[in-house]
Amino acid sequence: MPDTAEAPPALAAEAHALRTQLHEHNYRYYALDDPSVSDAEYDRLLRRLQEIEQVHPALLTPDSPTQRVGAPPLPAFDSVAHALPMLSLDNAFDDEELRDFERRLRQRLKSDVQIEYVCEPKLDGVAVSLVYERGVLSLAATRGDGYSGENITANMRTVASVPLRLHGEDAPPLLEVRGEVYMPIAGFEAFNRRALASGDKPFVNPRNAAAGSLRQLDSSITATRPLEMCAYSIGRIEGVDTDEISTHLSALEALKGWGFKISPYARAVTGIEACVAYYQDMAARRESLPYDIDGIVYKVNSFDLQRQLGFVARAPRWAIARKFPAQEQTTILLDVEFQVGRTGAVTPVARLEPVFVGGVTVSNATLHNQDEMERLGIRIGDKVVIRRAGDVIPQVVRVLSEASDSVRKPIIFPSHCPECDSEVLRADGEAVARCTGGLYCPAQRKEAIKHFASRRAMDIDGLGDKIIDQLVDEGLVHDPADLYTLSLEQVAGLERLAEKSAQNLLDALAASRATTLARFLYALGIREVGEVAAAALASHFGSLEVLKAVEVEDFHQRKGIKGLGQKKATALIKAIASAEPPQQQSLADWIAGLGVAGINRALAEAIADHFNDYQTLNLVTVEDLQYSHKSLIEGIGPVVAEHIVGFFRQAHNLEVLDKLTDPKRAGIHWPEVAAEAERDAQPLAGQGWVLTGTLETMKRDEATDHLQSLGARVTGSVSAKTSCVVAGDSAGSKLDRARQLEVEVMDEAAFRAVLRKYGRISD
Ligand code: IVH
Repeated sequence: MPDTAEAPPALAAEAHALRTQLHEHNYRYYALDDPSVSDAEYDRLLRRLQEIEQVHPALLTPDSPTQRVGAPPLPAFDSVAHALPMLSLDNAFDDEELRDFERRLRQRLKSDVQIEYVCEPKLDGVAVSLVYERGVLSLAATRGDGYSGENITANMRTVASVPLRLHGEDAPPLLEVRGEVYMPIAGFEAFNRRALASGDKPFVNPRNAAAGSLRQLDSSITATRPLEMCAYSIGRIEGVDTDEISTHLSALEALKGWGFKISPYARAVTGIEACVAYYQDMAARRESLPYDIDGIVYKVNSFDLQRQLGFVARAPRWAIARKFPAQEQTTILLDVEFQVGRTGAVTPVARLEPVFVGGVTVSNATLHNQDEMERLGIRIGDKVVIRRAGDVIPQVVRVLSEASDSVRKPIIFPSHCPECDSEVLRADGEAVARCTGGLYCPAQRKEAIKHFASRRAMDIDGLGDKIIDQLVDEGLVHDPADLYTLSLEQVAGLERLAEKSAQNLLDALAASRATTLARFLYALGIREVGEVAAAALASHFGSLEVLKAVEVEDFHQRKGIKGLGQKKATALIKAIASAEPPQQQSLADWIAGLGVAGINRALAEAIADHFNDYQTLNLVTVEDLQYSHKSLIEGIGPVVAEHIVGFFRQAHNLEVLDKLTDPKRAGIHWPEVAAEAERDAQPLAGQGWVLTGTLETMKRDEATDHLQSLGARVTGSVSAKTSCVVAGDSAGSKLDRARQLEVEVMDEAAFRAVLRKYGRISD
């Protein structure tokens, strides 16, 4: 129970120390992009602070890092007048307009000297203003019409990169910060995937996602959205010697010092030609940035010059935005085709009148699934908006105007597979419809074989998609095992394959026979078994024979009785202790008769079945009763376990497996790996290794295979738990992080020595 009395001084001091530490970690993470603790350590500190604050609410401060979970919903947003208006920017649409901008500046300044500019990306999100009083966040508002906006303080408190208290000793008594709130593309994609899977409405683009998330009256919803904020200017500031902040760049530096994230790409340059070059440079990087930018902003660096230049109407004379080509375009939907994937998923694909968008010509876009088509209300002939950002598959985001009824054709989701005519079914609660043809369906067969041959699976060089299509269409290959029975004659008979490449292909097939169990399992294409899960399976079970016989129970540990939570289990134990032992009646009747809330007849029977007699039941603890479920293999939950067991139950799959592994047929083989239980023989068992940079003498995949066969887990990121980092040429941030966390680092030569020592390589 929360205690409202004063907290013991020791706890007050601990809470204070935790807050200080957490603020410091936030500062290092967001402002400096240089964390000094692992996420797990951060979470541990945060949880401890939460515990203390829960028991002693008197210790809670409004700037506590625990206060990011959201506050009670508001009835409406209040309106806030901006003390200084939030202006907009003029646009330049080409290099010449940018040069005109500089000419105008020189005319006004009546000077020919070179002007210094700060160039920074124009983030595509929502502009906000944050007010800090005595260092603590007191008000956050949207831009609105520039003169007044909405009070979104509760929502902004949930954004992790917004400091709740300014960092450092020199925080001004009043500070207004302006910046952009945005949703990184990965977070946007993940949000939409979840929305589509559960039949909810997805957001059309990351900007709308950021705006929609900030417009929530219930800030606990905002708290679940992956928002970030990047600060780009100071609005008002009091109590600071402004001589120290006399340029835009120094303002950005000051903001960074107070704990704000600022753009890592902000640069001061001299003269407009350098601005043109900056634009080219960022345009080339745009695709690989983890967030959307829609242009570049140029600002005169000197505040003195900014003051001389002043404003026109609603925009400053000293700044300009140069827009990038749009990532959204309109076009016409010509047709919809239905593609069948490896798992039978039937995906509607829009055929479009080609348009240039996000730097490439696009003529196909995904429509995801039936729900999404219905939500869009799309028909053939409609004018649609398509969006392409980064290397993301182009999507149809909305219908702009419906075509006239005479051209408009409804799109009918097929009830039968367009490839094999098997029934298409959609499981309850799933958004995806699937062809039920399994490997009878040529489309699924082709996709399964393409996956089998792919680089990270069996890595069969030269076996491209076109060749696989032909092999399946001509009936030469029905399943992956058939690949290994192909003759030179058969292969050479394929279109576009010279005899030389035919022989190369057969050689590649022969070479692929020697592999690892992890790769082989991944190549099988078991649903939801990706590379990581396949490696975990190989390492846990050690052999294909064991895997063929696994049961769902082998994947997790269940304790207690389904339907009994902690509350019911505790109540039941109390009731057992205070009741008379059963006399004549059955144990189930006796339990049901105890009158414990929520324990009905069926549950009583399950409990009686489980414990058998009263004597045993009388001794049980809450842990024995309470239902708990734990995966024994990291990353493999109950659904994936079902897929795995289901796969090895299918007679057809077992037949193909036999053909694949029979030395007299396909003859695929791998070095024996000891199962986890008998893992002492595996020298790197239980260790996490990270590979970074380029290795000169081996491919990264090979290095991974070696490490896995020695029992190590190979992961992509360095944490305090990492055992060793192998750093090749031009290793970057992972190496820095390893040094910071004092994780062992090895160069390639030392790594080769380890592999040699354990007999993986011989030279
Ligand atoms: S400066 C007076 N810098 O672009 C100058 N704006 O029309 C005010 N924006 O809604 C803006 N990134 O939210 C500035 N690095 C950046 C920006 C940026 C995005 C947005 C801003 C405003 C719009 C300007």
